[in-house]
Amino acid sequence: MQHDAVAERRNNIAPIPFEADAPFLKIIGELPRELHGVLYRNGPNPQFDSPGAHWFVGDGMLHAFHLENGRASYRNRWVRTPKWLAEHDAGRALFGGFGRKLPDAPADLTDGGVANTNIIFHAGKLLALEEAHLPTEIEPGTLATRGYHNYQGRVAGSFTAHPKIDPVTGELVFFGYNAAGPLTPALSYGSIDAAGKATRFERFEAPYASMVHDFIVTANHVLFPILPITGSMERAMRGQPPYAWEPDKGAYVGVMKRSGAAKDIVWFRGEACYVFHIMNAWEDDNRIIADVMQFEEAPLFPHPDGRPTDPEKSRARHCRWTFDLSGNTDRFQQTYLDDLTGEFPRIDDRHAGLKNRHGWYACANPRQPMFGALSGVVHVDGNGRRLGHYLLPAGDTISEPVFVERSKDAAEGDGWLLAVVWRARENRSDLAVFNATDVEAGPVALVQLGHRVPDGFHGNWVGAQ
Ligand SMILES: [Fe+2]
Repeated sequence: MQHDAVAERRNNIAPIPFEADAPFLKIIGELPRELHGVLYRNGPNPQFDSPGAHWFVGDGMLHAFHLENGRASYRNRWVRTPKWLAEHDAGRALFGGFGRKLPDAPADLTDGGVANTNIIFHAGKLLALEEAHLPTEIEPGTLATRGYHNYQGRVAGSFTAHPKIDPVTGELVFFGYNAAGPLTPALSYGSIDAAGKATRFERFEAPYASMVHDFIVTANHVLFPILPITGSMERAMRGQPPYAWEPDKGAYVGVMKRSGAAKDIVWFRGEACYVFHIMNAWEDDNRIIADVMQFEEAPLFPHPDGRPTDPEKSRARHCRWTFDLSGNTDRFQQTYLDDLTGEFPRIDDRHAGLKNRHGWYACANPRQPMFGALSGVVHVDGNGRRLGHYLLPAGDTISEPVFVERSKDAAEGDGWLLAVVWRARENRSDLAVFNATDVEAGPVALVQLGHRVPDGFHGNWVGAQ
């Protein structure tokens, strides 16, 4: 037990074993009165230990911070997926890594979905997302699970955790990988209109089977990055890693007109790299510019023979991709904008797919020897130049920073950043509220929890109507 406690204090990955409601949380500083709504966050929090299971496949736990009139309350709930319910009944884990069932699991149990990656609000529905399954609808107040949402049967299969909401049309644009079954090179693509109706859903072939975590949407184009964390059923059948780093496969990005068809996709080539997250992308005359967090080598996934990738290269940096659509070249340019290790980029979402002048991401402390723990936040301009930088006390970690605008018509970037911070020494978490254009000053308010929120993936703010 003592060993576990010590290991747990070095990072904030281990799950918490409870669900709670905490009204009237203690606040340090002053919570801005304009913040009226809920910050929803999602992340892996395995209900039961499953030896060898990847961090990515832990059961989703939702954390909701309700802010109103300078006060804050908190609620957390596991998503009641079919896997969670079956394991809850069994009192033990029934799945191992990436949908693989444990040998003694019931034969009729096939759905290993964990709904653990993102939570978005679109067309009146709160949806917990995980890229290998359909969205799971969540009741916004109680966080109760309503079940899979398939858009009146018009959407099927995998559905990305990173769909994009077009700020002009209100349309939700999405894709799925492994669209023809596990470890296949098929992608799906579709859109949901602002009223929640599926208007398009189709499938096409990518150059090879890979893990496609995020994609790129601009006003008129959609881009599909196929990067070499490859998927292989042959490897999986041999007991080798189903997903592995294979840089020789190269980097492809498929560019399609949103009004066009998959058969007209133009594939651009680039240097092998991996990208989990896109900050934003936009059109500039005959070019598409995409700002991404690019890894030289994949983190968290090994070479096909199980060797780990180089930790010095397995860190992400803010990087600009440029696509020339005038037909001069089939190569895209990749230019690092900063040398700082960072992840979880966000913008003022009112500029999604349009040129942005502000961006934020979580960063590592460059004075610490370790690349893994994100322990600060960076504010950048529209070209990646740092405008502000805040580092937490050594050892503490920070989540993805979520931007909330001051009001509907506030200027771009005028508002707050909300991030969950783990206080290593106290082993509990705060919700930190920063002035988005002055992160350097540190949080203007801290909402204090008595427990810790494990380092998770993504979240979004849903303002009160
Ligand atoms: Fe993600």
